[in-house]
Formats: sequence, C-alpha cells, structure tokens
Amino acid sequence: MKIWLLLLVQIFNCQQMPISQPQHKKIPLKKYAKTFEDKTKQINFLTKYQTSIYNENPKFLPSESIETNSKLEAKIKLKNYANTQYVGSVGIGNPPQYLDVIFDTGSANFWVNSKMCRDYSCQSHATYDHNKSLDYRELGYFINVEFGTGEIKGEINEDTVYIAGIEIKRQNIGEITDEVGDIFVQGKFSGILGLGFPSMAAFNFNPVFDNIVEQNLLSSNIFSFYYSLDPEEESQIIFGEVDESKYSGSIYWADVIDGLEYYWLIEVEDIQLGDKSLNLCRNGCRAAVDTGTSLLTAPSKGLAVLMSSITIDCSEFNKSPDLTFIINGKKFSLSPEEYIITYGLLGEENPGVHSKNTEDCTLAIMPLDVPEPYGPLWILGDIFLAKYYTIFDRDNQRVGFAEAVHGYSY
Ligand SMILES: *[C@@H]1O[C@H](CO)[C@@H](O)[C@H](O)[C@H]1NC(C)=O
Repeated sequence: MKIWLLLLVQIFNCQQMPISQPQHKKIPLKKYAKTFEDKTKQINFLTKYQTSIYNENPKFLPSESIETNSKLEAKIKLKNYANTQYVGSVGIGNPPQYLDVIFDTGSANFWVNSKMCRDYSCQSHATYDHNKSLDYRELGYFINVEFGTGEIKGEINEDTVYIAGIEIKRQNIGEITDEVGDIFVQGKFSGILGLGFPSMAAFNFNPVFDNIVEQNLLSSNIFSFYYSLDPEEESQIIFGEVDESKYSGSIYWADVIDGLEYYWLIEVEDIQLGDKSLNLCRNGCRAAVDTGTSLLTAPSKGLAVLMSSITIDCSEFNKSPDLTFIINGKKFSLSPEEYIITYGLLGEENPGVHSKNTEDCTLAIMPLDVPEPYGPLWILGDIFLAKYYTIFDRDNQRVGFAEAVHGYSY
C-alpha cells in the first residue's frame, strides 16, 4: 500500500515538474510595408505637427492615460497604432485561437477583438470567441478606450494565453465589444499585447508578462526585440533569453528609472547632432523605450531646438549629421538614413529604403508632451529599435541595447 502511494506521488510529481523548455522562445513578427498612400499621409502628418511647434507651441497629449471612474469602469486613452507594422501571433483560450497582435512595451493591457463585436472594423479581422474556450471565465469589468481617431469599448475577462509555446493561465483579457472609428480597419492586427509595467494596467490587473513572472514560466524574466528594416527579413520577439545571433558587440544596460516603473523609462545624459550637444539635457533627459511607436517622439520644446539646429537639404539628406543619444555613458547614434524620412514622387517606397528621386523629406520625429511625473520624455520607437536589438529585463529592471545584425543595409 505504502509503495503504491509513493509511486503515485512520484508520478504526480513528475507531471507537476516543469518540462525543460527550449533555450529561447521566439515569435516571428511580420512586418507590413507602408503603402505609397500611407507614406504620403505620414509625411503630411509629420510636417504639419513639426511646423505647428513653431507657431503656437501646442501641447501634445501623452500616448496612454487611464482614468478610473468607478470600480468596474475605466477610461483609457490609447495612442495611434496606425503606423505600427510589426505583428506576431498569440493563442487565446483552450484550445488556442490564434490572433495577430502588436507587442507594445508602451502599454500594459491586453486587447483583442471579440466575436461579440459586430462592427465592421472588428468583423474585418480575426476575432476571439470566448464561448469556444474551456478555460474562459467571466469577470465583468467594463472598459472604455479613447483613441485619437475613435473609441473602443470592451470587457475584461479571463482565459488561458499561449505565447511562443508558453502557457499563461488566468490571464486578464480586454475583449473589444464595440469599435467606433477606424482604429483597426487599416491595421493588420486583431489586438494589442501590452508589455509595460503593471502600474499602467487598468484596475491593476496583471499584464501578461507579470503573469509569466508570477507563474515562473521562464528561466530569465526578459524579452527582446529584433526588428528588421526590410519586409523580407524576419523580425522577432524573443522570450527568456537573448538571441546572440541577432546582435554584435556588447550589450549596454540602462536602469529603468527607480520609482517611475510605468513606461520602460531610462535616463538620457545628452542628445547630440554630429559632435555638438543640443544642450537639452542639462537637468537630465528621459526616454521611454516603446515598441508600439513607429518613429521617435520628442518634447515639443526639445524638437523645436533640434529643428532650429539642423538644415536638411533633401536632395543630399544623407550628408546630415548623426543624431546621438548618450545613455549610461554610451553613444547610440542614428544616421540621417535612419532618422530622416524621404519622399519621392516616383520610385517605389519601402520602409528603410529611400527614394532615388527625393522630392521632400522630414525628420521622423513627432512632438509629444508627456506630463509629469513621467515626462517630459523622448520616445525611442521602432526606428531606434531596428538599429539596436533591445532587451527588456524585469529581473533587474533595466533595458539593454546592442547593435542589431541585419542581412540588409541602406
Ligand atoms: C456565447 O454564448 C452565449 C450563451 O449561449 C450567447 O448568448 C452569446 O451570444 C455567445 N457569444 C458569441 C460571441 O457567440
């Protein structure tokens, strides 16, 4: 009897033991090329906002802010994802239903299109049907999200989520039930998976990565992004370990600013054009490292200084100086090919590829005034992350950058 019991206990223990996992878990990210029309829109948008900072110094709102009205309702302002182009697949429910989402370090909630949503913009993308999941649990929290261009409503419920083979139990999921405006219509994605800090999440629900940490699913609580410049080259998000084939040289680390764990916020000691300091950081500068922002953003005052310090001849834009961020004593530079967007009347336009017939060009930097206590801040978006393989480390509350290795160059 005793022996049997022991044996049973052992079998049970075996099943409870974590199965040894592969070294790193990756999700390939698809990159969608901007259409010519998208590019035209983008350049008009940038020019308009960049010009306006000279005129009246308007205030630009932060990308996401939360306002909780009652226990069961919260309002969130969300940024514009229209230009975000890297999406990867996650499984939701048991058995998993696979949807393409944006992995966004600049927000912390997990949103998916729900089958409950009858609006065209929901129905034109893959949706999640909670009725088909054995693990679904209704929580009944309602949430309202305002975008620049519209609004979504949803409820927060719970289900199992699968990310790169990792099974996350009891994950809070914001199911989108109503959608007004064209937030997702143009997008090639059905949801947004926030990888920011839990203080950013609605109702203080656990973001996906916090559940990964609590459920002890990775050997290291890190994730990293490898963003390609070219749609032909695969982009990746990697969980649990860094992928040494994706960068060269050393990894340089910067601590997340203590007490401000919300965005992945780090100190920038100086910002330079060529070898000259823009003198913007005498009292320190900050940067949020944000995979959900496609370009860079700057406080409007800082951008005005930068714009008055540079004259770009669009036909020879590549002769412009590098734009450099000094982070923890190390220079991280963007070449003019990386921080200037060109636009030609002829010729094909691909991200990262500059037109041979440059008619016009602009800085790939939007003014954005994020208020205290997190701002003012710069956002290092996808164009920075394509150059620097970036590691987000929750075990040590720090961000690592290393020179990304690309099979493609300008
Ligand atoms: C899920 O099932 C409930 C109960 O049968 C039903 O009322 C609801 O319409 C279903 N939802 C969807 C999205 O099919």
